[in-house]
Amino acid sequence: MSYRLAQRAGTESRTDPGGDRISPLTGSRVPGHIAIIMDGNGRWATQRGLPRAAGHRAGAENIRRVIERFAEHDVRYVTLFAFSTENWNRPASEVSVIFQLIDRFLQRELDNMQRDNVRVRHFGHIEQLPRPLAERIEDAVEVTRTNDGLMLNICLSYGSRDEIVTAVQRIAEAGIPAGEIDEETVSAHLLTGGLPDPDLVIRTAGEQRISNFLLWQNAYAELYFTSAYWPDFGREDVDLALAEYGHRKRKFGKLLPEDLDAFEDA
Ligand code: FPP
Repeated sequence: MSYRLAQRAGTESRTDPGGDRISPLTGSRVPGHIAIIMDGNGRWATQRGLPRAAGHRAGAENIRRVIERFAEHDVRYVTLFAFSTENWNRPASEVSVIFQLIDRFLQRELDNMQRDNVRVRHFGHIEQLPRPLAERIEDAVEVTRTNDGLMLNICLSYGSRDEIVTAVQRIAEAGIPAGEIDEETVSAHLLTGGLPDPDLVIRTAGEQRISNFLLWQNAYAELYFTSAYWPDFGREDVDLALAEYGHRKRKFGKLLPEDLDAFEDA
């Protein structure tokens, strides 16, 4: 098992527009960038009479499984919502468990990710994290900086409104005249500047909301909600989500060529 992309990044399987790629497994269109809200760890544990920590542990263990399946489908960018700015309001003991799991994940997987050409990035307030975790993340980001295979973005102590406010502040500080500020300016000043927008957002555990996750970047993302709790969201669930995506018509507010033909025929 590996995180290695099926094709070399930026080659054969890329199609435009929308950043889609062609899955070597199915021959169908798959998203270039998938963002995931990994919800339901607590409920997964409660359902089994286990402490919530066991749910987070199972959730952390699931990450490798899911990313490997994405890599087999040649999905190039994966962005995980691991801990939101609002999650700081959870009991300190739960926050500590989540941080330990992230630390352990990076410790355990860094060699594999390096071997498989994965680039790790972090979005969020690194200065708010315990120093050892911040150092673990900085190290993973640094070690993998020049890798050009799958890109794994971990949103940790991240909130989208906060990100947008910071982007506006940076634009103001740069002295860019109001009349010159356009969508590209804003995109470029976000933490994700330079990263293609997500094509697909997956949220597990039956909730149907975005929860302050990549609000600007998800403007045209397809949304996929499933009742599966995150620790149960496996390879088959990945395949189902990608199959559903393959059936979606992405219009970006425009008409598709077939709609134009129908309009002209009328
Ligand atoms: C949501 O479930 C999950 C979280 C707030 C934490 C997600 C973190 C991990 C899976 C840990 C590992 C992360 C990485 C990147 C290695 P919930 O607790 O809100 O579940 P509930 O709604 O059922 O209570």
